[in-house]
Amino acid sequence: MKETGEVIYEDAEHKFVWLGWEEEEEEGFVQTNQYLIIDKGRGILLDPGGAYVLPRVMATVSAYISPEDIDVIFYTHQDPDVSSGVALWMKNTPAKVYISKLWTRFIPHFGSIDLNRIIPIEDGGGSLTLASGSKLHFIPAHFLHSVGNFTLFDERSKILFSGDIGAAVFPKGERYIFVEDFDKHVQYMENFHRRYMASKEVCQLWVSLVEKLEPKAIAPQHGAIFKGESVRKFLDWFRNLESGVDIIREVYGV
Ligand SMILES: [Fe+2]
Ligand SMILES: [Fe+2]
Repeated sequence: MKETGEVIYEDAEHKFVWLGWEEEEEEGFVQTNQYLIIDKGRGILLDPGGAYVLPRVMATVSAYISPEDIDVIFYTHQDPDVSSGVALWMKNTPAKVYISKLWTRFIPHFGSIDLNRIIPIEDGGGSLTLASGSKLHFIPAHFLHSVGNFTLFDERSKILFSGDIGAAVFPKGERYIFVEDFDKHVQYMENFHRRYMASKEVCQLWVSLVEKLEPKAIAPQHGAIFKGESVRKFLDWFRNLESGVDIIREVYGV
C-alpha cells in the first residue's frame, strides 16, 4: 500500500494523491513525500524529489496518469530532496516548472534543462487556474526554511501542501502516513523546526496567511499528513515555536 500511494481527496474532476514511500526505510537519508494533483485528467506534481527517488515516484505517478499529461511541476524551494530530479522530470514530461524567482538561475546546476519552461514565482505568490476552473494558490513561506519558498493551497480539496513546514523525521520502524496523536508527533518535528525555521515572527506571519484559507489537511514534504483536529493543533504549535534567530546564541554555542 505504501509503495502505491494513496488518494487523499477525490471528486468527479479532481484528485489529490500521496505518492507513497520507499519500501525500505533507509538510515541517513531523509524520507520524502511527493504528491500528485489530477484535475480533469491533467497532472500537477508537487516537490517530486531527487534522482534517488525518481524511479519509484515515476512508477507510482504512471499508475495514476501518463507522464505526457503532466502540465505543471511545482517546487517549494531549491533543496536537493525537493528539486534535484528536475532535468529528468523535464525530459519525461512536457511540464512547466514553477519555483521562486530566487532559484531559477540555480536549478540548471541540477542538469541540462530548457529555461523557457521554468516559470519564476514572484515573492508575493500568485495562482494557477486548472482545467476545472479551480485554482492553486502559491502562498509565500519565505525563510521557512528557504529564503525563496512557497507553500501551495489547492482550493478544490482544501489541502495545503506545506513543503518543509510540518516536516517530521521518524525513527526507523515508526513511520505513519496520518498524524493521529499530535502530542506524540511533536517530538519528531521539534528539532528540525527549531533549527531550520528563521524565527517565530516569520512562523506567525505564515500561519496568519494560511489559517484564513481554513485548510482541511496539511501535507508536508517529510513525515505525516495533518487532518481534522491536528491541522489546528499544528498551526497553534508552529505559531508559538521559537526558532532560528530566536535561539541564535544556542545555535552558535555561545
Ligand atoms: Fe528544504
Ligand atoms: Fe525537505
